[in-house]
Amino acid sequence: MLMNIAASIIAPALPAEAGMTEEKLAGMLEVPPQKEMGDISLPCFVFSKLLRQSPQKLADQFAAAINEGAGQDGEVRASALGGYLNLTFDGARWKSVIVGAALAYGYGHSQAGQGKRVVIDMSSPNIAKPLGIGHLRSTMIGNALANLYAVTGHEVIKVNHLGDWGTQFGKLIVAYRRWGDTAALQNEPIAESLRLYVRFHEESEREPILEDEAREAFALLERGDEETHKLWRFFVDESMKEFHRVYDRLGVTFDHYTGESFYNDRIDGVVRELENSGLLEDSDGAKVVRLEELNLPPCLILKKDGSTIYPVRDIATAIYRKNELKADEILYVVGAEQSLHFQQVFAVLNKLGHTWANTCRHIPFGLMTVGGKKMSTRRGKVVFLEDVLNEATERALAIIEEKSPSLPDKSRIAEAVGVGAVIFGDLKHHRQLSVDFNIEEAVSFDGETGPYLQYTHARICSLLRKGNYEDLRGQGHLVDGAVLASNEAWECIKTLSRFEAVLKEAVSDNEPFVLAKYLLAVAKAFNRFYNSGKIVYEGAEPAEVASKLALAAATRNVLKQGLNLLGIAAPQEM
Ligand code: ARG
Repeated sequence: MLMNIAASIIAPALPAEAGMTEEKLAGMLEVPPQKEMGDISLPCFVFSKLLRQSPQKLADQFAAAINEGAGQDGEVRASALGGYLNLTFDGARWKSVIVGAALAYGYGHSQAGQGKRVVIDMSSPNIAKPLGIGHLRSTMIGNALANLYAVTGHEVIKVNHLGDWGTQFGKLIVAYRRWGDTAALQNEPIAESLRLYVRFHEESEREPILEDEAREAFALLERGDEETHKLWRFFVDESMKEFHRVYDRLGVTFDHYTGESFYNDRIDGVVRELENSGLLEDSDGAKVVRLEELNLPPCLILKKDGSTIYPVRDIATAIYRKNELKADEILYVVGAEQSLHFQQVFAVLNKLGHTWANTCRHIPFGLMTVGGKKMSTRRGKVVFLEDVLNEATERALAIIEEKSPSLPDKSRIAEAVGVGAVIFGDLKHHRQLSVDFNIEEAVSFDGETGPYLQYTHARICSLLRKGNYEDLRGQGHLVDGAVLASNEAWECIKTLSRFEAVLKEAVSDNEPFVLAKYLLAVAKAFNRFYNSGKIVYEGAEPAEVASKLALAAATRNVLKQGLNLLGIAAPQEM
């Protein structure tokens, strides 16, 4: 917001030849590395060629024009240094304006993406396997991106592309018929299927014929064999029950659960399209599309036995999303290990003449592991996401019991804190980095954690209650910027003013991390302000208290919205 104010001050000072609108300018402004340089600066190097002057000369001219115009009221000062135009905001007015704006619910939202429909492929676990810790990332990065795209004006469709088709079902069916334990399957269907998978892989090493049987079983499934289909349906239904239990805890919903099997009757069409375009080639009896010219290995379309495979289902899926969901952009929030797969899929689409494939984007992320032996409740080789959530919640409860024993509803808050800690522990990293998740660290109330942000938020809520903020507001006290004269207050206000720009940056980089880091900066800036002097005390002037509390309330608004955008709850007490 300060950027927009700065842009509105600078724009009239530039000559028309510079061809600058306020909006373009706002995008060029920077926060100077040192406070002495001012609050906002504009690098003037880009104008140098166009206006045939040195950057420093231009900065000097712009500064003079501002100081003669907008700067006359003494609320903003312009100066020039090293080719940069620097603005320093002195007046109380800006503070009132920014804090006032930051109190509103829709603060930070924008319409940048208006008219654009974005399909986000996220979570997309495989049926009959548990949700592992690895699925946390796709689910929560995808969920945060969906929220971020929505508040920047996009229309978002969240799709769970369930892995509900493929040779693995052949394996499962064979394993079930050989070693299936009906009782275990009733009680613990997913854990039991995992055991069956593990057993299948062990036994098939000794008895390779099992692989053939599995292929046959899947072929039977593809041909619609009734009994096989019934078994498959059972695994799908049971898996969905388990998935929903975890999604509910994570607070994640989807608009569509169209998994791979949904596209079964569209595959033939795609294969025909590939054939008609002359792209389909034989390779050892299998069908492939060659991609040598792109330096990519061939994309496998059909196996030797004619059964379908992952890439062709994704090709059919993309076409459906474009043609039927009318997607303007498709994001695939999927681990980096599938980069080649998506390159191949997008390349084949392009070769088919679907140039819109350029609006499909793989949003890769690094591997997540869980350190600390105690946490690795390994069953098979998977760390169950649910176990991680349980342990985080238990730890959160222990901390809350100690810190706030009299808090009502402790277990509800512990759930919000524990789950929030896990989500923030993921999103605070650049998504491309691998994360070794440390549960104890993530649940800590200090440091760069979700609970730290939640705690700052809850503390502000309690401060506002204590200071009777709502009553003061009711009495008509407006935000008086003059009261917020300290450096700490100004730094906090400036941080709040960046919210909209941060949300836009998170979207353009597809990085929830940008928002996560920003929220830590907000909490730190506020805590510095909070610790710099008492706000509510005996004999304090109501007008003064009201303005300081307004800054606290504005911070609460940004923290709460920011946490919620990341998919994290913001309890009022903890
Ligand atoms: N089910 C796949 C897996 O767990 C992820 C699917 C991602 N989405 C897609 N359209 N391929 O590895």
